[in-house]
Order: sequence, then C-alpha cells, then structure tokens
Amino acid sequence: MIEAFEKEELRNVLWDIRASQKTIGFVPTMGFLHDGHLSLVKNSVEKCDFTVVSIFVNPAQFGPNEDLDNYPRDYEQDKKLLENAKTDLIFYPEKESLYPDGFSTWVVEDKLSKVLCGKSRPTHFKGVLTIVAKLFNIVQPDFAFFGQKDYQQLLLIKKMVKELDFPIEIISCPIVRESDGLAMSSRNKYLSDKERSDSLVLPRIIFEIEKAFQDGESNTKNLISLKDKIISDSNSKNVKLEYFEILNSDNLEPLDKIEKSALVAIAGKCGSTRLIDNIILK
Ligand code: PAF
Repeated sequence: MIEAFEKEELRNVLWDIRASQKTIGFVPTMGFLHDGHLSLVKNSVEKCDFTVVSIFVNPAQFGPNEDLDNYPRDYEQDKKLLENAKTDLIFYPEKESLYPDGFSTWVVEDKLSKVLCGKSRPTHFKGVLTIVAKLFNIVQPDFAFFGQKDYQQLLLIKKMVKELDFPIEIISCPIVRESDGLAMSSRNKYLSDKERSDSLVLPRIIFEIEKAFQDGESNTKNLISLKDKIISDSNSKNVKLEYFEILNSDNLEPLDKIEKSALVAIAGKCGSTRLIDNIILK
C-alpha cells in the first residue's frame, strides 16, 4: 500500500494508474475507521482496479463550538485496517496543503443544505462540499463511495456532482450497524456506557416507524407521533432529539403521506455527543 502525504505524490502515482487504463475508486474519510468505512473500501476494491482512501479531519465542516479538537484520530491503526482491506493508496494530507493561508473559495448549495442537519450546523455542508470537490479534483476518481448514514451529505454530493459536472459516479453503500442496532460512527467512541445504551433509542424509533409503515400506516403525522411512546418506554434520559422528520427522499421536502418511498431521519444529542441515523421506507 502506498502512502501519499502531498498532492503531488498522489498525482504522480495516479497518473501512471490512469495511463494504464485502470479504474480508480475513492473513499474519502476523516479517519478513526470502523466497519462502516471498511465496507466502503470493500465495495471500491471489488468494483475498481485501484482504490484510494483519504484521511483528513476537515476543519471547514466543524462549527465553532463543535468537536474538531477532540475528533478521534489514530493514523497507525487506520493504516493497518486499510492495508488489510487491500487499499492501494492512502492520501493523508496536512491541513496547510488543502487550506493554505488566505483560502476563500467555497462550494455552497442553497436548498438541500438548509434542512435537517443544516439547521443546527449552518456551515457544515459548505465545508463538506468544498473538501469533497477539492478531493475529487485531486484524485479524479471514476467512482466515489459514500455511506447512507450521512444521507443528506450523500444527496448533496450527488447533486454537486451532477450540477457541477464532475465526471464521477457516486456509489452509495448501506448503513453498517453494531449488533444492537446503533449505526456505526467514529463519534460513538465518546459515549459513556449509560449514554451508549440510551443511544439505542434512535435506531429503536426508526425501526418501529418502519414496522408501523409496513403494517399499513402511511400518514407521516401519525408515524411521527409514535416516537413519544417509544421515547418514554425506553427511559433514555440522556438523549435529546434535535430533529425527527419524514421527508421526500429525493428532494428532502415535507410529505403528508408516503406514496412510494420516504426518508425517516433522526438526530439527537446523547450527553454531548451528536448522533444521526436514518432509514428509507419503501
Ligand atoms: O463523511 C465524512 O467522513 C466526511 O464528511 C467527508 C465526506 C470525508 C468529508 O470530510
């Protein structure tokens, strides 16, 4: 496995790969990898001739009082996991090379980024889209792999690729969960034992909603009202819901009734840890 710390090193390697007509798969990450990330890598390794994984904790997507400084990092462990997963190249750039002094060019989306996570994190998606656009320009992959856990991010990246004409196919991969149902996230590491068990109320809510939908309820107000009983039954005092919404899964607009499919999206704070989860009802 090759390690590249500078854009130029990476470009030189990829120049040869492209010249030999090989397809390039790309998995952007912020490191502290778990099985969710590794499933993206596996998909890339299976589909593409050459797989690049970037590890970069992107300061631009954190708000002023968020967890940038404490965000978990373990490069040596990530490197081992990526080697085992048959990654061909890790790109591990310094902050200064991606955001040199005076940096002031951003990618901003004006519609989908305003709802759900965008309400409480108003600059988050500007940071995400900018770094993803930069990484796409540096790596120039044929395929890029993203998890459905960050569903809003996935939609925004697909929209950016379409609207800004990046010649890249975005492949979305299913959420990977712990055995008790909690969606995998690098931030789960912050949870105390009590918070960890309380956090299970999030998957419980979305799976109960899925069951009610499968049993025939399609009115979104009725579905949303089910959450109160689930919360009081689960006695999860550490969890404060930030949002719980059922929306059109293509454009994130509100829905009164689910006709074909819908996104059920939830976010909450468990202690000081912000967690998100979702499911697509079909
Ligand atoms: O999903 C993430 O880990 C990040 O938002 C991403 C896509 C790597 C951009 O920093």
